[in-house]
Amino acid sequence: MNKNNKIINWQVLNDAEAVAQEASQRIFRSSQQAIERSGGFKIVLAGGRTPEQTYRLLKDMDCDWKHWQIYYGDERCLPEYHNERNNVMASRAWLDYVPIPDIQIHPMPTDIRAAYIYRNLIKEARPFDMVLLGMGEDGHTASLFPEQQHPENELVHAIYNAPKPPRERISLSISALSNTHELLFFVTGAEKREAVAAWRRGENLPVAQIKPRAGATVLIDRAAYG
Ligand code: 6PG
Repeated sequence: MNKNNKIINWQVLNDAEAVAQEASQRIFRSSQQAIERSGGFKIVLAGGRTPEQTYRLLKDMDCDWKHWQIYYGDERCLPEYHNERNNVMASRAWLDYVPIPDIQIHPMPTDIRAAYIYRNLIKEARPFDMVLLGMGEDGHTASLFPEQQHPENELVHAIYNAPKPPRERISLSISALSNTHELLFFVTGAEKREAVAAWRRGENLPVAQIKPRAGATVLIDRAAYG
């Protein structure tokens, strides 16, 4: 395996539903282990469309919800209840239906100028027990896009020029996203195939730069893996 992929476990599944089933089971097991280990489960959620089915499956699972802490890997700077916000998607698919105390669910600010608030929160929250991430067709992850540079010492970036609308976003940094016990990527759909091939070739895409010490697992369907 090349330097970028040596600690990645690629798990190829038949289709998006199988990815969602496997992801929900892994998240459940990870939560039980974390709660046993430390009394709580700190998870960073992925945005976009891919995780939605996994979140719907989590809604019906019997987890020890009172010990969960929910953070977001990135967010679109849109009005609080805007359909395109990642936390609105997660709430409608899952969080509105399970008894995680509101004080333990941490949506990102709607106003990009408030990104500093999330910096303080993440500084205290690290390390995470699990980080969930998707991948865009260009190999971006969270709101970390190719060819975009950010201050290396930042935990949370304010992004004013995202190529994927909306342009204003808030995103955890490479270092913050890498500071986790477990990292789970979900990648589905033929439209991701080219970026997956580049990732596997070792190209230094944003998705390839997230490198937890314990490695990462990519749950990917056959359509995206090729
Ligand atoms: C966002 C997401 C983004 C997403 C990828 C994949 O806010 O847009 O965080 O990083 O994970 O773009 O999106 P899909 O799952 O919709 O393909």
